Amino acid sequence: MAKSRSVYRCEECGASTPKWQGQCPECGAWNSLAAAGAASASGAGYSGETRGRRLAEITELPLRRQSTGIGEFDRVLGGGLIPGAVALIGGDPGIGKSTLLLQVCAQLPDQKALYVTGEESLQQIALRARRLGIEPDGLSALAETRIEEICGAAEADRPHCLVVDSVQTIYTEQLPSAPGSVNQLRECTAQLVRLAKQTGIPVLLVGHVTKAGSIAGPRVLEHMVDAVMYFENEAGSRYRLLRAVKNRFGAADELGVFVMGNDGMREVRNPSAIFLSRHEAPVPGSVTTAVHQGTRPLLVEVQALTDRSGGGSPRRLAVGLDQSRLALLLAVLHRHGGVAAHDVDVFVNVVGGVKITEPSADLAALAAIRSSLTTDPVSSRLLVFGEVGLAGEIRPVAYGEERLREAAKLGFTLAIAPRANLPAKPVSGLQCFPADTVHGAMEALQACGDGALADVGAR
Ligand code: TYD
Ligand code: MG
Repeated sequence: MAKSRSVYRCEECGASTPKWQGQCPECGAWNSLAAAGAASASGAGYSGETRGRRLAEITELPLRRQSTGIGEFDRVLGGGLIPGAVALIGGDPGIGKSTLLLQVCAQLPDQKALYVTGEESLQQIALRARRLGIEPDGLSALAETRIEEICGAAEADRPHCLVVDSVQTIYTEQLPSAPGSVNQLRECTAQLVRLAKQTGIPVLLVGHVTKAGSIAGPRVLEHMVDAVMYFENEAGSRYRLLRAVKNRFGAADELGVFVMGNDGMREVRNPSAIFLSRHEAPVPGSVTTAVHQGTRPLLVEVQALTDRSGGGSPRRLAVGLDQSRLALLLAVLHRHGGVAAHDVDVFVNVVGGVKITEPSADLAALAAIRSSLTTDPVSSRLLVFGEVGLAGEIRPVAYGEERLREAAKLGFTLAIAPRANLPAKPVSGLQCFPADTVHGAMEALQACGDGALADVGAR
């Protein structure tokens, strides 16, 4: 007869092993293995059907998005709430997750939303609603942490949106482990996903983040839900960036910008304007570039500071850009741009806490470094973007024209951009220099400072 075997599951990564060990064999975390109950029987799929169906026969498409009334939140969701979709929203404590979601609930038609809290009392929620100036006519809240009760309430109420704040506080009595443990998180999230798919109620889940910045518990949560978004903010700044890192129904990397005020979160409709620091006069080492986040271009300022190195190997530090990319760019700048930086410390920073993950900011970083080295300021009306290759060539990037148009909209008059990115029809108000090589781009920068961009071939 087969012996029933116990299973141990890692609280960090969700891996399971048949034998207890001090260290997880998958992720290497210490003391993270805990006895897991029998794996939950997932049973049939969400539709209860057991055979495949032709997609063409499926006409009852649930893709009618429901606007949340908050444009920036809709944008990150990919256009609004989708029936049956589950989104996980992570972020540091106090960043404004509960505030934003309460505002979202209040804006829904008839306010027919169910706000479940496992962290605060109903009085606290009501107090916050008053403070936010919300008239909570149809809004209902539930202080509950048992998942079965939550699902039961949602099935009875059929709200237009279910908010669970937070996923770490809810639990099922069927599992012995504590709320927030990997087993509980997986099981509760699975139940909420099932609820959403079967009833069509969109679910917004709040998740806490660990010190390392990812949603506490396992990465497995991110695989189970339809969208994952993170709230980020620069220390001390009032601005909050909501970034979609995964979205089955929209663009990943989409960025929504909010500002926290006395009356809650307000959306920022023109975020390009806030990431450009306003210097009285142009300063050396500051260059504006255009990144493309999700579905829109965003202008950000890249700053560089170079300083004579105090001996030893010079320091290279990048904030908001990839650190190893910086070393690579400096080598290209030296070999192909004739600008040496081997005896200076180089610091590069992207203003406003934006993290650039695409290579389009390469050329702007080089321009900022050159500007800091030569102490020649770069015009604050100049936009620079383009990927830099190891052979010193400037490569085109996606959405070049959108980036140029965004700059023109914000009053920029000059641009240095990859040749292939310049549109056939000039962008009105913008004089563009087509860059082919790092060398050419650096000459154009010089000419720009001398007010002679047209002489080097700008059009
Ligand atoms: P909260 O939404 O509770 O954060 P989270 O759920 O992510 O932990 O936000 C709490 C913070 O926001 C707190 O520091 C106070 C601040 N706040 C405002 O500045 N203005 C407001 O109108 C509200 C409601 C909160
Ligand atoms: Mg909260």
